[in-house]
Amino acid sequence: MLFLTIFTETMNKDRKILVTGGAGFIGSHTVVSLIESGFTPIIIDDFRNSEKFILDRINQITALHPIAYEFDCADQNKLREVFTEHEIGGIIHFAADKAVGESVKLPLKYYENNIQSLVSLLKIAIEFKVPDFVFSSSCTVYGEPDKVPVDENAPIGFTASPYGYTKQVCERICRDTAYAYSNLKITLLRYFNPIGAHPSGLIGELPLGVPNNLVPFVTQTAAGIRDQLTVFGNDYPTVDGTCVRDYIHVCDLADAHVAALNPSKEEGGVNIFNVGTGLGSSVLEVVRTFEKVNNLSVNHKIGERREGDAAAVFADNSKISSELGWKPKYTLSDALAHAWTWQKQLNEK
Ligand code: UFG
Repeated sequence: MLFLTIFTETMNKDRKILVTGGAGFIGSHTVVSLIESGFTPIIIDDFRNSEKFILDRINQITALHPIAYEFDCADQNKLREVFTEHEIGGIIHFAADKAVGESVKLPLKYYENNIQSLVSLLKIAIEFKVPDFVFSSSCTVYGEPDKVPVDENAPIGFTASPYGYTKQVCERICRDTAYAYSNLKITLLRYFNPIGAHPSGLIGELPLGVPNNLVPFVTQTAAGIRDQLTVFGNDYPTVDGTCVRDYIHVCDLADAHVAALNPSKEEGGVNIFNVGTGLGSSVLEVVRTFEKVNNLSVNHKIGERREGDAAAVFADNSKISSELGWKPKYTLSDALAHAWTWQKQLNEK
C-alpha cells in the first residue's frame, strides 16, 4: 500500500493541473488534495468571489505555495500564455458564479460568465492537447428527480434558475466536445450539497453577504452574526417534514476530483459521476447534529417553504465508487464540526 502511494505520487509528480477558481471553496480544498497526491496545481482565479489569504492558508497546510495567476479564465489570450509557459496535463474547472437567487435577477451575468469561461477553456484544451478535463457540475441538473437515490441515468429535469440551466448547458457543451474531439477525456462531476471545511479550520467557505445555503447560515447563527435560522417548511413528505439533502464533506468532494483525473474513457462521450454520500439528512437533522457535535444551540424557527425546493434529493454513488474507487471518508458530524472550527477562526480574524 505504501509502495503504491509512493509509486502514484512519483507518477503524478510534475504533472501540472490547471485549477480555475482554485482559491474558492471547493477549488482550494482540491488544490490541497492535488498537492497531497503529488500533483502540481496551477491556479487561475480573478478573486471576485474569493480571497487571496486562502493561498497563504494552502501554504500553511501543505508547505507549498501554489503558482497562481490573477485573471478571468474566459480570457483566451491570457490562458494561452499560461499554457505556453507550463505543460498542463489536466484541467479542473471550478470558476463560475453559483448563487441561485442572484442568477434569477442577473441571468445574463450567469450565461456570460459560466458559459464563456467553459468554451474558452475547452478551446485551449484542444489547442494544447490536454488529455483530461474535469467539469464542476451539480445535482441541480436532475431538477426534482422522480426517484431517490438518483443515479447518473436519471433524466435531465426542469431547473428553475438560470444558474441551474447554465450547468445543463455546460454539460451539453462538454458532451458535444468530447464526442467531436476523442482525445480529450471530459468528466462531469455532479455534486450534491458540499459542506464542511478542512479539518485544520484554515480553509473553508466564504459566503458573500447573507448566506443562502443551510450550513453557512447555521454556523453564522451559532456565531451570533445572524439572529435566527429559518427552517424552510416542515410539511414535506419526509422523515420529519423538512427537506432531505445529501451533504458531502468538501475534502471528500476534493478527493473525487483527483480520482477523476485518470478515468478510463467512455467511447464518444463524457464520463459522468454523482459525488454524494448516498445518505439523505433532513434540515432538522443537520441542525441537531450541529448542536450535538459542537455542544451549542442554534436559534431556529420553522418558516414557510422556499420556492423551488425539492422534498428529497440524495445520490446513488455506486458508479464513482466502483469505477474510480472513491468513497467518502467523513461523516455529517465531522463536516459540521469542521465547519464550526472554520467559522470560529473567521470570528477571531
Ligand atoms: N434551508 C433552510 N434554511 C436556510 C437555508 C436552507 O431551511 O436558511 C434548507 C433548504 O430549504 C433546503 C436545505 O436547507 O431544504 C438545503 O438548502 P441549500 O440552499 O443549502 O442547498 P440546496 O439543496 O437548495 O442547493 C444546492 C446547491 C445549489 C444547487 C441546488 C440544486 O447549493 O448550488 O442544490 O437543487 F443549485
